[in-house]
Parts: sequence; C-alpha cells; structure tokens
Amino acid sequence: MLNPIPNPIARHFPGSRAAVLIPLSILLLISITSIAQQPSAATLSDAQVRERVESLLKQMTLQEKIGQITQIGPWPVPPENLKPEDLIRAGRAGSVLWTIDSAQIKKMQEIAVKESRLKIPLLFGYDVIHGYKNVFPVPIGMAATWDPAMVERAQAMAAHEASVSGINWTFGPMVDIARDPRWGRIVEGAGEDPYLGAAMARAQVLGFQGPRLGTINRVVGSVKHFAGYGAAEGGRDYDASYIPEELFRNIYLRPFQAAVDAGVGTVMSAYMDLNDVPASGNKWLLRDVLRRDMGFRGFVISDAWAVASLQVHGYARDPEDAAYRGLTAGVSMDMGSETYLKNVPKLVDSGKLPISAVDQMVREVLAVKFRLGLFEHPFGDLASKEKVLNDPEHRAATRLAAQRSMVLLRNENQALPLKKTLASLAVIGPLADSAEEIKGSWTVERGPGVSVLEGLRNKLPDAKIEFVRGGDMQRLFPMPWDAAEGRKATPLMPESEMRKEVEKAVEAAKRADTVVLVLGERASMSGEAASRASLTLPGNQRQLLEAVVAAGKPVVLVLLNGRPLEITWAAEHVPAILEAWYPGSEGGNAIADVLFGDVNPGGKLPVSWPRVTGQAPTYYNHNLTQAPEDAPGFTSRYWDLVTAPLYPFGYGLSYTTFAFSNLKLDQKSIKASGTLHVSVDVENQGGVAGDEVVQLYIHQRAGSASRPARELKGFERIALAPGEKKTVRFSLGKEELKFWSPETKTWVVEPEAFDVWVGGDSKATLHSEFKVTE
Ligand code: BGC
Repeated sequence: MLNPIPNPIARHFPGSRAAVLIPLSILLLISITSIAQQPSAATLSDAQVRERVESLLKQMTLQEKIGQITQIGPWPVPPENLKPEDLIRAGRAGSVLWTIDSAQIKKMQEIAVKESRLKIPLLFGYDVIHGYKNVFPVPIGMAATWDPAMVERAQAMAAHEASVSGINWTFGPMVDIARDPRWGRIVEGAGEDPYLGAAMARAQVLGFQGPRLGTINRVVGSVKHFAGYGAAEGGRDYDASYIPEELFRNIYLRPFQAAVDAGVGTVMSAYMDLNDVPASGNKWLLRDVLRRDMGFRGFVISDAWAVASLQVHGYARDPEDAAYRGLTAGVSMDMGSETYLKNVPKLVDSGKLPISAVDQMVREVLAVKFRLGLFEHPFGDLASKEKVLNDPEHRAATRLAAQRSMVLLRNENQALPLKKTLASLAVIGPLADSAEEIKGSWTVERGPGVSVLEGLRNKLPDAKIEFVRGGDMQRLFPMPWDAAEGRKATPLMPESEMRKEVEKAVEAAKRADTVVLVLGERASMSGEAASRASLTLPGNQRQLLEAVVAAGKPVVLVLLNGRPLEITWAAEHVPAILEAWYPGSEGGNAIADVLFGDVNPGGKLPVSWPRVTGQAPTYYNHNLTQAPEDAPGFTSRYWDLVTAPLYPFGYGLSYTTFAFSNLKLDQKSIKASGTLHVSVDVENQGGVAGDEVVQLYIHQRAGSASRPARELKGFERIALAPGEKKTVRFSLGKEELKFWSPETKTWVVEPEAFDVWVGGDSKATLHSEFKVTE
C-alpha cells in the first residue's frame, strides 16, 4: 500500500507490531468436522434483512450513515486527532482495521453496541490469509495441493481462530491471476490459471464464511483485489494494468465470479489503474461488471487508502473529488482513510451527491452486518480463544496441508526419499534454521514454527546433523511501511563473512553423508511491495549452491519461496529439488516427512516455471501463433532460449509412477447446451502409495476468437496404493466450454471441434476430440 499517509502499523512480517506471540495454554480437542457442521447463527430471509435495513436507515443521521461507510484504524484520525473510541460512540465508524488485540476489540465493540445511539455493531477487519495462529502454507502453496476440500477446511480453522479472537472479517481470499512471477503478490494467490483459481476461490470463501454468511465461528470474506491487479505492468506492484475486455472476463474475473457465486460478503477494490481508470474509482468495473454482470450483492471495501489515492493517481482533483468518485463508482466503504468521513458531508450538503447514493452504500453495509448475525452475536466466542488457538487438530492440519503442498521438481535416479539410516547430514542455507521465515508473509498471532533444521533433527534424532548458514540475502529496498517507520532492511552479512560461510558449508558437506541445502527468499521478499526485476537466488545463494554441489556429496535442494525462481543451473546439477513454498507452522516437520518418504509428494505447480527472468510472463494457456513450436523450422520464439518453461503448469513428480489409459468420451458430439462425460483410468505402477492430480485440458480449434492452446477444465487429486487403478470422471458442459467472445461481447458456446487431453500436467499427451453442434 503506497499512499501519502504513513501506514501506522507494519503488519505483514515478523517483528512488526502486529505480530504478537501468544502463550500456549491448555490443549483441548475440537474436531474440524464439528466446525463444519455447526449451524448458522443468522437465519434472516432476504426480505427480513431488507426490512431491518430500511427501518434502521430511516433512523440514521447523515453522520451516522457516513460512519457506516467508513473504516477507521485504531489510531486517532487527523487533523483533529479524533479518537477511535469517540468516533465509534458517535456512530461515526462502521468498521475498524488492523486490530488484533482481543481486549481492545471487545472494548470497541462494547462501545458500539452499548453506547452508540443506534447500537450498530462494528466489523473488525484483518488479513487472515493462510491461518491465524496456526499457519498454513502460503496461498500459492495451498493452490499447489490441488485439493480444494482441504483448503476449505484450513480456511474454516483460520476463520474459527480469528472469530474467537474478535475478528469477524478477513481480507481474503486473494484471487488475482498472476502470470508474472516478478510480481511479489503471486505468493498470495492461486497462480496463473482461472479454473484452478476459481476452485481455490470457492473453497476459501466457503471455508471462511461457511455455507452462508452468519455460520457460527466463521467470518465474512473479502475477495480481492478487484480486479486485474496481477497484470501490473512489468510485474511492478501497484503499476497500471492494461487488460482487453476478453482477457479480463475470460481469465482475470473467473476466480472472482466463483467467489461471488459462493456468496462472498464483500469485495475489495484494487489500487491500480485498470485501462487508465483506477480500480477504486472505476464505475464500469464496480457497477456494470461486478454488480450488474456478476450479480454481486454484498458491499465493496476499497483497498487501504485507495479512495484517497485516486488523487495520487492523477484521477481525482482533491479529496472531495476522490470521495465523490469513489462513492459514485461503487466503493461502499472507505478503508483506513478519512476521505468519506470528511468529504461526504460537504458533497451532500452542497447537493453534488444525492443522499440516495449514500443510502445505497449504507444499505449494502448494513445488509452484510445483518446477514452475518452481528446484531445478535457482536462479540465472537472470546472465552474459547485459548482453547481454539491451541487446538492440536489445527496444528496437525497445518502439517498435513504443508505435506500436500510440496512439489517434487526433480528426482534423478531416485535420489529421494532419503534413508532414515543416514549417519550424518549437513543442513545448509540462510533460511534453514529459521522458524519464522518458514511461515511466509501475512500471518497474525504467529504461533511457534518448526524450521527445516528442527524438522530434520526431529526426524533423525540419532544422526549427526551439522548446520551452516552459508551466507545471507537482503532486499535492496526495505518494505515501504518499514521505511516509513525508519526501519532499515535486515543488515547483510559482510562479503568476507559470506565467503567464509561458503567455505564452512563446503567443509560440512564433505563431512556429511548427504546435504540438505535450503535456499530461496526471505518471507518479506514476496508479497505486497515485494516485486523483483530479477528472479535469481538472492544474496550469495547461487555461489553457495555451486560450491556445495562441487563438494561432491549427494545434495537435495529444498526451496522456500513464494514465486518461481531462476533455478535452471540447479535443475541440471542437483539430483533432487523439492519446492516447499513457505509451508507454515509445521513446515520443517512436513519437509522432513517428504524428504524421508513418510509422505509421498503429490503437489503440482499452479504456475509455469520460467527458465530465466526474461521468459516472464510465461503461462501455459497462451494462444497459438502462426509459428507453432512443432512447425518445421520454428523450435522457439526466442533465438537464445527455448520458449518452453523449465517446468510446465500442473507439473510435479512423485516417488511412484502413474500411467493413464483408456480415455473415453461418452459422446463424439454434443449440443451447445449438452454435457459430455469423460473418463480415464489411472494406475499406480510403482512400489509405493502416492497421489496423482488428474488434469483435463481442452482446446477449441476454431471460432469467433482464437482460443488458448490448452485450458484446464477439470482436475482431481486421487490417492492410489501400489498397483491400484482408478477410473476418474469429468464432465464438460456449458460452464467449461463457454468463453466471452470479443465479437459478440457475450458468453458463447460455439459449435466447433475441440481437443481434449488428460494427464498429470499441462503437457498431457493422452488425447481425444469431440464436436459441439448448434
Ligand atoms: C493490501 C490489501 C490488504 C490491506 C489491508 C493493503 O495494503 O493491498 O491486500 O487487505 O492492505 O491490510
């Protein structure tokens, strides 16, 4: 978030004021199934909600109305330094941002529901992105599980932990499609694909909210950042996005539509310019697309200070104009700034803004509060906070999720799994001993974490395990909010010390039977304001890698990172590479589980993995060109590198092998309104049990527009015992076959020929075809 007002809370990373550790206490058991089956607190019908909203609205003063569309922070509002408590008491705040202190939340809510004139409860919003105290893998890792049911359960647990802490609103899921790994926020989403992205969006909304708003122990979600943020030019965070409407609707909006269909209560409007109009002042986007076309019926919250920033963009003339443009464009609530609070009264008094425009926004906010059951249950079950946050099932769930998120990128000559009889192990790398970095960015009450080193020690209590840091890495520029508060980037180890560390690492490698080299990025190197111009291993990690490999011992490379990195050298010289993302609280244990074969990795890449930075953006669902790569003479569209990424979308190895056969379509041709059934047999041909993600891709051969070379339209993660064979079935109907045509400007299913492939990644070769008829 970049804005002229210094952000008073550095909330994303370890060491930030909001990153509070709370003590462990009594461990009690609550099963996740009991959470899933809990009843709804709110059971109001739409008509009842409308009636209550109208009756409340009639009693509200202008100030109180503006209060409902204002989200304040827990700090005084300038220039008069209005205290948050006073604003709440006066009914001048509808929500509070970035407060995780349960006692403070309770106090503020009490003021709202006991001391304010109309007793309207507050929404407390926070970024509960991949866990609350128990930290799950970062979202890109969760997407790599290809397991929406598990993701839903994980977010239900996160919601439960948040709700018993007093938070009733999460700023998630983040569903921005990211095709360019230079963009730091790729870590927060589900990667490049709209179909996988939609599945993850749906799962997360259901996890956060339950089957309907008001489900007990859940929170309201906020799908973000609406829309097109991931297409920031050059991958530079906050930069403008230019997205043609067909690409916007076919790719970028699909996960948002899935979130809306799953009933998400709020949508967060993005910061950046979309085709020259800032998203948070973009009437077409927020009214025509979101409310009219997509059928959204909750409310829109701006990103933090995004309404005030309309002026910074060079779009609004002054704060009053910014308030006017934000509100009329369809931003129902202003996050963090006093732009609505200060300017809407002037706009209404002068007659520029009709009160009906304000009323409409207030209605949307109140309706969500009613549907959430907030008037009946404003507090959350604070008494059970310690119990829920320390629930061993939550902790166990983070380990399971981490195991399932890992992607085995390389495994030459079955270098993995390692044997538990290993006598000695060298654990090397600047991230290997960190119990903090392993959790990634965006965590709240960070509970304890398990580093890779600790996980390996837990796994091999009797082995000689030697740790060498091996070097260091640093952001050249600190996070903007750190800089605003005068915090400097973590100091880098001096060059001379780094050289010594590399030497120490080489010596340790020579002494050990096997080396586990842990490389990647610090958590603060991806996420918001964490874009990069280059995807190389930061710091001295490349030198460390080459030196350790040259020591001649078997090396396993474990990556901790939130984006694909340039590892082309490693992919040629290191026999085993495991992508572990930032796996969360139990990360180190989960990594050890996979390295030693207690768990067979089954995650798959939710992004295409470029060989070098210059390949970005690279994505599998590109259009065909007049020079397809298999045409004579055209092997690449670069003369200095192949076009193909290092690892394709959907890719990931296993300790076993799977064979696909018997691809069957129940019809050779269907009507545009019809449904086709596809089946395929998948067999585990190896000696160990394992998971395969069965993926189905299609291609429309001709039509009113060029269609992507391949598009994912079905997937299922299945578990197979050695020798076991299963039949997996998919359906292809209107939802899968439709696209938004630039010719007709509508969704169409066209009577054309289609290809279909099924396999274990986006290069699947098992092929068939079908036709759609009028
Ligand atoms: C980010 C959002 C986040 C908000 C509130 C902004 O800077 O862009 O993703 O939800 O802050 O923390």
